[in-house]
Amino acid sequence: MLFQKDLFMQITYYGHSCFEVKVNNKKLLFDPYITPNKLAEKIDFKSIKPDYVLISHGHNDHIADAVAIAKQSDAVFISNFEITNWLSAKGIKNVHPMNLGGNFDFDFGTAKYFIAQHSSSLPDGSYGGNPGGFLIKGLHDSSFYYAGDTGLTNDLKLIREYINIDFAFLPIGNNYTMGVDNAIIASEFINCDKIIGMHYNTFDTIQIDKNEAIDKFNRAGKELILLEIGQTINI
Ligand code: NI
Ligand code: MN
Repeated sequence: MLFQKDLFMQITYYGHSCFEVKVNNKKLLFDPYITPNKLAEKIDFKSIKPDYVLISHGHNDHIADAVAIAKQSDAVFISNFEITNWLSAKGIKNVHPMNLGGNFDFDFGTAKYFIAQHSSSLPDGSYGGNPGGFLIKGLHDSSFYYAGDTGLTNDLKLIREYINIDFAFLPIGNNYTMGVDNAIIASEFINCDKIIGMHYNTFDTIQIDKNEAIDKFNRAGKELILLEIGQTINI
């Protein structure tokens, strides 16, 4: 058989924690925060037309552009129940509510909404439910983890019990989430050696030294990939 696994997944970085990942030819956009991000000024926002938008939690730096994306695409919005209700009240009708620990089979593969240790109010102060991340398993067995915002937590050890992930998006900026050193421990917990860093350098409180972070991962026998904003890679 020609495709034992997806040959690759195509990943584009839109800054902060926002990535588009092409899975089985469907475009999954995670945590849209582009137009308020000065570092992402050169991104052609109007050209972003995902099939799905996955939102990890309600904070503005993860949801700011959700309504605008809904207006310029036919995307289905996947998040927790409270956030999809809030999006529906904003006029977004294409929603798929989930909650912690649940799987669902979509046309791109399976998504699981997984626990994150964080908080989750919405931009207007509404209750945002519990924060989470996503485990994505493509139709041909390639899998990845998108952590959202989280600190290091023992729950991450559960992931290796039910899925072998090929790569993971982890926050590394510290202050609001885990930093580089804890992300290295997290990558041990999830049994994954290929990490794509996110949630760094956008704000004064989450500045990192990129080369030092990459060196630290290397010394731990792991790869840290830090994409340029606007860069696309195949993985
Ligand atoms: Ni947050
Ligand atoms: Mn955040």
